[in-house]
Amino acid sequence: NRENNARNGFDAPLKMTPQLAWQGLTHPRWVLGTLAREIAARGMPHFENMESVQGPPLFSRDLVRSKIARDELGWDHIRFIRDIWPGKLVVKGILDVADARLAADAGCDGVIVSNHGGRQLDGVVSPLAVLPEIRAALPETVVMFDSGVRRGTDVLKAIMLGADFVFVGRPFLYAAAVHGAPGVVHAANLLRDEIDRDMALLGITTPLAARDHSPVPLPG
Ligand SMILES: Cc1cc2nc3c(=O)[nH]c(=O)nc-3n(C[C@H](O)[C@H](O)[C@H](O)COP(=O)(O)O)c2cc1C
Repeated sequence: NRENNARNGFDAPLKMTPQLAWQGLTHPRWVLGTLAREIAARGMPHFENMESVQGPPLFSRDLVRSKIARDELGWDHIRFIRDIWPGKLVVKGILDVADARLAADAGCDGVIVSNHGGRQLDGVVSPLAVLPEIRAALPETVVMFDSGVRRGTDVLKAIMLGADFVFVGRPFLYAAAVHGAPGVVHAANLLRDEIDRDMALLGITTPLAARDHSPVPLPG
């Protein structure tokens, strides 16, 4: 129940409404350069991560997103998936030390400490606040992080608090919406330059040094 989406008329799957048609007409560069190009190259986009088979198409008159049986996925299923999946297994959305331990005990290779960008339950704990205790509880497991990373300093803060990898969500989506692939490259360059500058200001030469606070050794 995202009230901002209810207000701005966004729904998924998309339904063709006068408002959507107007948005398309007034954004011809996006319609031709992004939507039409994607459909020409790969066909109509589908929701790919909803079912075990391909989900509904982007535009659909009557399909609804599956919201059934939310209480039927548990740690037994994670252990089952671990047994049958020989590749790396990562559980995302961990915000609690007890869950982090359950994930590690179930054989997960990594966890992503995340509140999905605060888009699901807006009063939930900040992932940055729980990152250090989850890191401390899982010294042998890869601990990744996302939600709210906007600046180079945010990346370094998360690394300093224990993240092995830091992910960025909406900034790259916004960059893609404004300027397509070159926009995403530009956003990545901005972030890289910020991290580079911030490391210089902190007196460190690798991002991981943010964690151990070790001073840069003098040459010679
Ligand atoms: C439009 C949109 C759709 C998303 N869908 C999913 C999803 O299906 N599954 C998921 O685990 N996270 C989903 N996320 C959350 C992102 O994967 C990521 O955790 C989050 O955007 C990170 O926060 P940030 O956007 O503040 O960087 C979605 C995020 C956005 C903006």
